[in-house]
Amino acid sequence: MASSTPLSLIILVTLNIQLLLLLLPPQTQAQTPSAPAPAPAGPVNLTGILDKNGQYTTFIRLLVDTQVDNQIENQLNTSSEGLTVFAPTDNAFNNLKSGAINDLSTQEKVQLVLYHVSPKYYRLIDLLTVTNPVRTQASGNDSNWGLNFTGHGNQVNVTTGIVTTQINNALRQQFPLGLYQVDMVLLPEELFGAKPPASAPSPAKTPSSTSNTKTNTSAPASPTKGNGASGRNVVGWVLSLGLGMICMGALS
Ligand SMILES: *[C@@H]1O[C@H](CO)[C@@H](O)[C@H](O)[C@H]1NC(C)=O
Ligand SMILES: *[C@@H]1O[C@H](CO)[C@@H](O)[C@H](O)[C@H]1NC(C)=O
Ligand SMILES: *[C@@H]1O[C@H](CO)[C@@H](O)[C@H](O)[C@H]1NC(C)=O
Ligand SMILES: *[C@@H]1O[C@H](CO)[C@@H](O)[C@H](O)[C@H]1NC(C)=O
Ligand SMILES: *[C@@H]1O[C@H](CO)[C@@H](O)[C@H](O)[C@H]1NC(C)=O
Ligand SMILES: *[C@@H]1O[C@H](CO)[C@@H](O)[C@H](O)[C@H]1NC(C)=O
Repeated sequence: MASSTPLSLIILVTLNIQLLLLLLPPQTQAQTPSAPAPAPAGPVNLTGILDKNGQYTTFIRLLVDTQVDNQIENQLNTSSEGLTVFAPTDNAFNNLKSGAINDLSTQEKVQLVLYHVSPKYYRLIDLLTVTNPVRTQASGNDSNWGLNFTGHGNQVNVTTGIVTTQINNALRQQFPLGLYQVDMVLLPEELFGAKPPASAPSPAKTPSSTSNTKTNTSAPASPTKGNGASGRNVVGWVLSLGLGMICMGALS
């Protein structure tokens, strides 16, 4: 009896040492490969990024004409929340009814552009589960001018109540700016919904002949999961090893 107490103490001490030895290496290894690239030091140039991509000339012109680009630059500099911008392609603008943008007043153009900007940085993966509606820069202190996001698997859709489109292409996904391509202009209900069209009510929308061809669903690469499970496996292995040793100790 007297000899069994020191034996179990020795087992406990070796167990602890083994735990330390086995658990430390995975923790230190995990830090190096997942280190994100350091953020560029200079201010973020939204129109510069859009310009480089070549297919956002209409949106850039609207940003500049409405001076929302200055506002965004200031906010990127000062906001602790960051920003998310949804950039419609030139095709998206071309697909609008002619005059849809030109008929807007200056104030309405500003509101339309601000509607494509959310005062918070979202990664795509955040938008999969975000609480709707998401505020935009056009939102006042009420809940109007919001965007709704729905996620299915890796796919995020955004809806305004008037248009729904997929978000496939992340032009930039690094704080403070999330910048995503949208293939439709996000038309807010507040501008395009309630107002009955000035012209004669056109008979129901003809089923879009092009929608079926839009099958480019380049799903965003899912971020590789960290190997958090391996740590638990090691613990389980050590525990069972320890149990085995305790049994052997009891038998001897
Ligand atoms: C941002 O990019 C645009 C277009 O490339 C350029 O004209 C402008 O000078 C840049 N602004 C800053 C602050 O670098
Ligand atoms: C943003 O901050 C940088 C440095 O902090 C400054 O040089 C630049 O003028 C600022 N831009 C705006 C639009 O405030
Ligand atoms: C929004 O705020 C303004 C003052 O900042 C106030 O007069 C107005 O009632 C508010 N609207 C709502 C819907 O809370
Ligand atoms: C957006 O989501 C909110 C909350 O679920 C819902 O009340 C609202 O009707 C939705 N609007 C649209 C246009 O889908
Ligand atoms: C997402 O939007 C596309 C159209 O852009 C539509 O075909 C698809 O059904 C939507 N998915 C969901 C789950 O709403
Ligand atoms: C799909 O992508 C291919 C190449 O990536 C492009 O040539 C084609 O125009 C795209 N189609 C649509 C409907 O976007």
